[in-house]
Amino acid sequence: MTTQNITTLSSSPAQTELKTPGYQGCQSRSLHDLEIPEVDLFTPLIIRDITLPSRVAMSPMCQYSAENGFANDWHFVHLGSRAVGGTGLIMVEATAVTPQGRITPGDLGLWDDKQIESLTRIVRFLRQQGSVTGIQLAHAGRKASCNVPWLGGTPLTPEQGGWQPVAPSPIPFQENSPVPIPLDERGIQEVIFAFVAAAQRALQAGFQMIEIHAAHGYLLHSFLSPLSNRRTDIYGGSLENRMRLLLEVVRRVRDVLPNGMPLFVRLSATDWVEGGWDLQQSIILSRELKTLGVDLIDVSTGGLVPHARIPVEKGYQVPFAAKIREEAGIMTGAVGLINEAEYADQIITRGCADLVLIGRELLRDPYWSIYARCSLDEEPNWPVPYGYAVKRQRR
Ligand SMILES: Cc1cc2nc3c(=O)[nH]c(=O)nc-3n(C[C@H](O)[C@H](O)[C@H](O)COP(=O)(O)O)c2cc1C
Repeated sequence: MTTQNITTLSSSPAQTELKTPGYQGCQSRSLHDLEIPEVDLFTPLIIRDITLPSRVAMSPMCQYSAENGFANDWHFVHLGSRAVGGTGLIMVEATAVTPQGRITPGDLGLWDDKQIESLTRIVRFLRQQGSVTGIQLAHAGRKASCNVPWLGGTPLTPEQGGWQPVAPSPIPFQENSPVPIPLDERGIQEVIFAFVAAAQRALQAGFQMIEIHAAHGYLLHSFLSPLSNRRTDIYGGSLENRMRLLLEVVRRVRDVLPNGMPLFVRLSATDWVEGGWDLQQSIILSRELKTLGVDLIDVSTGGLVPHARIPVEKGYQVPFAAKIREEAGIMTGAVGLINEAEYADQIITRGCADLVLIGRELLRDPYWSIYARCSLDEEPNWPVPYGYAVKRQRR
């Protein structure tokens, strides 16, 4: 995306209209809108055989609290409380498909059958609370092998337990990052296989949907962007070649999923840097993903390079979700500084996106979704053991 486009987009109708009460906003003319006459934040969303009870999703958020990739009681309580809090879809954090693909040693993983059981218990509980369960499958690429963020998030040396990151090209993420090893054809096939195997394990754990992480500068995004992909083989150069790895991963994962199971892809719709990945390429890619059976594009931005200047403000990524929805005719999820219920509702009612993903605000308040119902005059969906007590007290 060019600098000029950034300016155009950040003051685009989708952005300004959402902030202007009473304005009709970015009503999409996408075909799928015709099938859903009237929707708001708490209208169920049917995707294939799965019905999300609302349009509120918990955005995937790494906890960096796993050991050897295994989920533990922290994940149980962390995810469980957001399900108790009435969140429609719980998307489990970026879960590494190989040990090398972890951002930190604390990342969740699904590279080993033994890791399935630790997630099964959590999934069972989330589903019992009425949430739909999804998991984000990821490979960190050149951003792998770092310390946890509260210890600085800096690259780990081999003495500190670091490992060798891989990438499309030998270009480090930033100055102090290790130079990643470019994946050869065999390495690429192994990555594809690892995504497929992890998807099969997610199925065994009972997840109802899967999201492929192709955003935030991690491996699949780094193949898409010309800033990090300088390959001269069939995986680099033209847009078609840069999209090849993600499309192959999606094709192969879709093949092993039941037909009724939703598949999402998270994209960074722009690198926010001249000459990088941008909205136009994201639209072309989203059309391709749709033909391969992807149901929804979860639209984020940035993360590829540390020096990008991102105009972070309320709902700053919503116009990207609206544009991809409109131009690629595919469902989208909007994410990023969507903190208030009324604003989240407008994103849905005005046709900017089909799903709203809430990140940090759900960390601050696991009951966000229940209070959102209250403020939008909907019946709050307290869990049974709480509901009779708190409702009575309110009267
Ligand atoms: C603690 C934390 C961990 C995150 N981990 C992930 C992740 O695992 N996968 C991902 O795609 N995004 C991740 N993100 C980004 C969020 O999913 C979300 O896109 C971002 O926080 C913006 O939404 P918000 O303003 O509602 O927090 C993370 C964000 C935070 C704050």
